[in-house]
Amino acid sequence: MREFILNDGSKLPQIGFGTYNEEFKDNKEAILTAIDCGYRFFDTASLYETERSLGNAIKESGVGRENVIIETKLWIDEMGAENAWRALDRSLYRLQTDYIDIYMMHWPRQTGADGEDWKTLDTETWKAMEEMVAAGKVKRLGLSNFLPHHLKNILEACSIKPVVDQLELHPGYSQEAAVAYCHDHDVLPMAWSPLGRGRENATIGNAILVRLAEKYGKSIQQINLRFLLQKGILPIPKATSRSHMLSNLDVYDFELTEDEISLLSCMPQTAWLGEHPDFVIPDRKSNPGNV
Ligand SMILES: NC(=O)c1ccc[n+]([C@@H]2O[C@H](COP(=O)([O-])OP(=O)(O)OC[C@H]3O[C@@H](n4cnc5c(N)ncnc54)[C@H](OP(=O)(O)O)[C@@H]3O)[C@@H](O)[C@H]2O)c1
Repeated sequence: MREFILNDGSKLPQIGFGTYNEEFKDNKEAILTAIDCGYRFFDTASLYETERSLGNAIKESGVGRENVIIETKLWIDEMGAENAWRALDRSLYRLQTDYIDIYMMHWPRQTGADGEDWKTLDTETWKAMEEMVAAGKVKRLGLSNFLPHHLKNILEACSIKPVVDQLELHPGYSQEAAVAYCHDHDVLPMAWSPLGRGRENATIGNAILVRLAEKYGKSIQQINLRFLLQKGILPIPKATSRSHMLSNLDVYDFELTEDEISLLSCMPQTAWLGEHPDFVIPDRKSNPGNV
């Protein structure tokens, strides 16, 4: 598979595989199918409760731990130096591995964090994550849902730069300012929900996408993925069927024009999933007891 080069010189497959979440809990079969289809880069999180299935699938696949890239995240109730170390140990245990390839802070603002407090908590957590790299338990660090003002706070304090920032990105929610800030600071933007989670009458039903899909003889989902790749964004689509898994890798035999990229970049906002890092306080909890 083609690769993106990260700011530390290492490489990532251009398309990863998302494991959020119900379909993959206690179900290694779908992940085994993804490995069989050629996916080697997997996104999970302590919040998703899919780390164990991913670890089981990697073991059973026989491809070898060193040939798979695992990305996982600590959740908002796992922030702070000591909590972060405990979170890492739990993730390693569930994934049945002794290192994480990319370890992420999942969300920039903890529940109820008002004022500027979040900045200190973020940098304290990041320092602990840097120690994890020094200890050999983590290879690279990343962020998730960090908008430019959150990312700036980390960039000003860090010794180890994040290699990626995972954001909700798809046609209709392309967060141009956040993506530009990532590119300007040599942090690879990564797209979560790159298919807009298949929401009807939004991304899926959009006339622009339908027209482009017809023009290129591809699916709307393939147009979404191609759009992201041409904008220098790494998508991590989720799929449960083999046909979807294969189709999401089959996006290299056509190229959108500059005008089409512009048109898709300027689409009306649609299919936003409604979670804003500064204003929505997720009430979900990770499951630290469930190691
Ligand atoms: N950092 C964060 O805060 C955050 C938040 C949300 C998600 N994520 C990550 O991003 C990953 C992807 O996002 P997502 O799971 O929300 O949604 P998504 O990848 O945008 O969409 C998944 C949906 O699209 C369908 N689909 C996949 N391929 C298709 C195809 N070729 N044709 C038609 N339908 C297709 C899937 O159906 P089938 O299952 O039937 O194939 C599923 O219903 C997650 O799994 C997770 O790893 C991160």
